[in-house]
Parts: sequence; C-alpha cells; structure tokens
Amino acid sequence: MSKYQAEFNRSIKERESYWGEIAKLVHWDKPWDKVLDDSNKPHYRWFPGAEVNTCYNALDLHVAQGRGDQNALIYDSAMTGEIRHYTYRQLTEETARFAGALSEVGVLKGSRVIIYMPMIPEAVIAILACARLGAIHSVVFGGFASNELAVRIDDAKPVAIISASCGLEPGRTVAYKPLLDQAIDLAEHTPQACVIYQRPQLEAEMLTERDHDWHELISRASPAPCVSVKATDPLYILYTSGTTGQPKGVVRDNGGHIVALKWSMKNIYGVEPGEVFWAASDVGWVVGHSYIVYAPLFSGNTTILYEGKPVGTPDPGAFWRVISQHKVSALFTAPTAFRAIKKEDPEGEYLQRYDVSTLHTLFLAGERTDPDTLHWAEEKLEVPVIDHWWQTETGWAICSNLMGIEQLPIKEGSPSKPVPGWNLKVLDDAANEVAPGEIGSLVVELPLPPGAFPTLWNAKERYVEAYLAEFPGYYKTADAGFIDEDGYVYVMSRTDDIINVAGHRLSTGAMEEVLTSHPDVAECAVTGVNDSLKGQLPLGLLVLNSGCKTPHEQIVNECVGLMREKIGPVAAFKQAVVVKRLPKTRSGKILRGTVSKIADAEPWKMPATIDDPEILNEITESLNSIGYPKS
Ligand code: COA
Ligand code: AMP
Repeated sequence: MSKYQAEFNRSIKERESYWGEIAKLVHWDKPWDKVLDDSNKPHYRWFPGAEVNTCYNALDLHVAQGRGDQNALIYDSAMTGEIRHYTYRQLTEETARFAGALSEVGVLKGSRVIIYMPMIPEAVIAILACARLGAIHSVVFGGFASNELAVRIDDAKPVAIISASCGLEPGRTVAYKPLLDQAIDLAEHTPQACVIYQRPQLEAEMLTERDHDWHELISRASPAPCVSVKATDPLYILYTSGTTGQPKGVVRDNGGHIVALKWSMKNIYGVEPGEVFWAASDVGWVVGHSYIVYAPLFSGNTTILYEGKPVGTPDPGAFWRVISQHKVSALFTAPTAFRAIKKEDPEGEYLQRYDVSTLHTLFLAGERTDPDTLHWAEEKLEVPVIDHWWQTETGWAICSNLMGIEQLPIKEGSPSKPVPGWNLKVLDDAANEVAPGEIGSLVVELPLPPGAFPTLWNAKERYVEAYLAEFPGYYKTADAGFIDEDGYVYVMSRTDDIINVAGHRLSTGAMEEVLTSHPDVAECAVTGVNDSLKGQLPLGLLVLNSGCKTPHEQIVNECVGLMREKIGPVAAFKQAVVVKRLPKTRSGKILRGTVSKIADAEPWKMPATIDDPEILNEITESLNSIGYPKS
C-alpha cells in the first residue's frame, strides 16, 4: 500500500487517534475532553473541552521557541514599491498593541469585528489582534461595494469595523472610507467604533466620534495578552456567495483550524518551518485567511503579503521578481493569474531575468487548472505544478497531491486524490455511489475533518438544508465530478448557480436580484460564459417592461453601473443583452445552462421540457448581436 493510501486510511478508520496525535503539535491552554464530539449528529465538534488561543499559536509560541528574529511577514507592494519586514517578535508586539487598542474601543471576547481593508500588513495585524482577544473577525473583500458590506454588517453585527483610507488598484485609488460610511448608512446595525488606517496616497476624513485613527489609538494603547477561548468557539466568519443575495456566513472554529492548517503546511505543501511561503491571493478570500495569514504562521514560516497583480504592476515578471527577491519556496495562486502572465509573456522572457531557483512547488486552486496552463507552468518553472481543490466552507484542501507525504504522478485536469480526513464519494441523485468514471455529486462522508466549517453564522438550519439534507450522512460540496479507476478525482462543474470569475466565487442569483431592481427590467437571467483569461464571465439577459421606450444601450449601461454599485467591481459584470423572452421549461425554470452552451458554441440538445423552442433561435440571434459565440 502506498504511503499516501496508508495515511488516508488511518485518517478515516482511526479518526480520533489520528487527529489527536496531530493535535499535540498545537499549544493548548487546556487539553480536550474528547477528540471528537459526535453526540449531536449531523453536527460534530472537534476537541470539545479544550482551550486555546489562535494568535498565540501563530505568533507568541514562535518567539518563545526561538524564532523571534525570523521574518514572520514580508509586505511587498508592487503598487507603491514599498517593502516591509516584520520578525515574529515585531509582529507579536504590533499585534498585541493593536489588540490593546481594540479592547479600548469595546472589543471583547466573542465580539464581532469587520475588517474591510486592502492588502497591507495592518490587515494581518487586525486579523491576529481579533484572534488574540477571542473576538470574531469577518473580513470583507475590498472589491465589494457598500451594499454587500452593509448586508454583512447587519448579519455579523460588529462592535467595530477596521478599515483603511484607500486601496490601490492599477490606474485608480479606491477610497474605502466613503464606501464604509455609505455601508453604515445603509445598514440597520451601527458599529460602536471604526478604526481607520490612514495611507499617504489618500487620507480619509474622520466624520464622527465613532471614527478613530489607527495610529492615534495605538499610541496610547497597552499590549493585550492572549485570551483563552474554547476550541469550539468561532475564530472568524467569512461570507461567501450562496444562491441568493443573502451570503452565507461560513464559521471557522479555533481548535480544529489550528490543528488542520498547521499539519497542512508540511504534509500538503511540503514546506518546513523557516521557509518562505507565498499565497498570491487576497486576505478577503479563504485562501488569504488560510494561507497568507494562519497556516504559514502556525508552522513558523515567513509569509508574503503582496499588493499588486500578476501583470501590469509593472509587467508580467512581477511574480518572478517577488520569488527571487524574497526567496520563495512555494507559491500558491489561481490558474487565472498564470493565464494572465502567459498571455502577456508566452515565451516566458521575463522569467529569464530572475533567479527563481528557490521555488520548489507551484500550487493552483480556485478553479480547475486547464491543461494548457498546467503544461506552460511546468515547462517554464520546471517544478511540480499541483492543482488542488477546496472551498470557503472547507477552509483547506479536500483533494491534493501531498507533497510532504508522497508525490503521486500528476494527471492533467485532476486535483489528485482526497486529502486525509476527507472521505470523498460520488453519488447519483438517489444517493447511491456511482461506478468509477461516472459523473455525480461530489460529497464528503461526515464528520468533516478539523478545520472545516461547523456551522453558518446565524443560520444553523440553512447549514443543514444547504449542505447536509440532500444526502444524509454526507456534506454536499455542490461540485459535480467523478473519480477514475486509479482514485483520481475530477471536479467538473458546480451543481448550483455559482460561477467562478478569475478565481472569485459569485452567485448569478445575487446578480439577477440586482438586475431586476432596474425600473425597466421585467425579468432577467445571468449565466456564466467561458473566458480565456478569467475562466468565466457573467452575461445578463434582460427582458424589458412592455412599452419601455429607453434605448437598449442605455439600459445595458445602467445595469452594468448598477452591478458595480451594488455588488462591486469584482463581479466583472460588463455584458448584457436585451431579449424578447427568456427560455424556460414548462414549469418555469430558466434554461441558463443552454444559454451558456449557445454562447460558448458548445453542443447542446433541445431540452425536452422547453416551453417554446423558437425562443432559443431568438436568444441565439441576440447573442450574435453582441459577438457570441466568440470565434
Ligand atoms: N478593491 C477594489 N477593487 C478591486 C479589488 C480590491 N481589493 N480587487 C479587484 N478590484 C477591482 C479591479 O480593479 C477590477 O476593476 P475594473 O473593472 O475597474 O478593472 C475588478 O475589481 C476586477 O478585478 P480582478 O478580478 O482582479 O480582474 P483584473 O482584470 O483587474 O485582473 C487578473 C485579472 C487575472 C490579473 C486578476 O483577477 C488576478 O490576479 N487574479 C488572481 C486570482 C486570485 O487572487 N484569486 C483569489 C482566489 S485564490
Ligand atoms: P471558493 O469557495 O471561493 O474557494 O470557491 C470554491 C469553488 O471553486 C469550488 O466549489 C469549485 O467549484 C471551485 N474550485 C476551487 N478549486 C478548484 C479546483 N482545483 N478544481 C476545480 N474547481 C475548483
């Protein structure tokens, strides 16, 4: 039996002793009563009875163990040219001081704190300071608009919001403070305090007594100690797209999260303490939470916080510069970033200008790695390129090649095999396991391993309904795929209305809610169409109110603007077309999949249940009028 298989089998058959052994690597303030509490199925809790502090495990522990002078964090801004190094000692001190500042504005154990910040070190300090106090952070990605922020404020009800005066995007400075003020105006809940980090590129105006300047607050604060919390207490809430405009608040607990993530650095990523790890993502996404902030710090690595893009900041050599300058061992990013580099520098000429010999592995996730990107990256970098599959809900990889245990042969299009702890199956609609090679729903047998989400914030019933009800005893990933004869997993598509734009997860349902708020739009559909750079892009079909006299072009432009205002630029919603009617089944279900296939010039069959086949000809003509299918 392979080393991989032996490890996987033990993680399932001897679950408690397996994770109990790994958990000894964590610093606990109080040991657990039990490794796993399964007395309230389908809800499970890891390490009940234990007490722990996440920030202690990320920072103070390393200082105590002699890593105080090692870099914990390197901030590299391709936007400003600034580079800052923080040793474990410095990051611990700054975090403790900011935690003290937060407690002065009323943040206590269990308080919620929203963090709406660009990619600056203060975002990491804010996250860790919350963890230090036992407060629950909820980071909101900077590319979301006020409306999305307001929805999260009302759900999480934060005591405080931490933000910065601005973010820097190529060609524009994003003023965060007005977006924050607008969100607070839109929300019903009002936070007690806002702490604003002033960046020199654009200073924010402090409006009310509620607003505090980061520097002023920190100058009079004293360092706060780590507060013990229960292993099962929430560490953070991270909102992710659901099928409606109401996002799902994915909850992560403290204990299981440290155990799983610390283990993952060595065993999945093959990275030893002291090595430099770079996740080129954003702290607003789960990849940023897990692999910019927490996992590398739990395991005593140096993590890179990069403010910039793969291309254009200033050129397609940006990633190679960072790798060579900071001696990065392993890089983790989304395939779309590599597609962007490949498009601008197909021959890899920029790569020749840098010494990237420290890099031993490239990890890709967020969307399926297409074979072209895989081969290009393998050929140019001459390192293993590892596609791995995971979700906001899972917090770490469900399937991956385990670089620290045994590297299995790479099969293109597959994120390899299930990671220990994830007992993955493929089921048909009647919940029967299908034969190898057959497509079905990808599900994970319960209990999920440590680090996976134990619930949704304020929505325990939705947690069961959305994830556990359809296949009793299993977690439904909402991805469809198959497992081949050799046990390799293939993730093919979502089974819900989520689309994946540049590695960002977006709900077409939420976009439809925005479009229908336009006064001239009677009905609409949003569907994902293929894009050679971003993987998918949203496309809107608009049916107008009868008698509407407004020119179509104007309505489309207004809809594009509305989406930017309501969801944010990250939605990348730039195309819509007016149609006479929407294609529907006789029971009224919109045939979004068929529209995508027509737009992508993929073979499609006339759905047997279609209400009126003629509509698809009309849709084809409308799509042709805006250049679909693309040649
Ligand atoms: N704050 C404000 N606006 C933001 C933002 C932020 N933090 N992040 C992105 N945006 C804006 C961008 O400026 C852009 O606005 P525009 O329409 O005015 O140009 C829009 O949101 C879309 O951004 P993005 O998805 O980054 O697309 P892009 O065209 O600027 O760049 C890529 C394309 C492929 C280079 C880029 O998507 C990328 O680097 N992706 C990496 C993927 C990734 O990090 N995934 C996370 C999961 S691993
Ligand atoms: P998110 O919650 O934003 O991380 O998005 C999770 C979704 O992204 C998954 O459900 C998949 O649909 C998709 N995804 C992430 N990684 C991969 C991968 N390696 N292969 C295929 N799909 C992926």
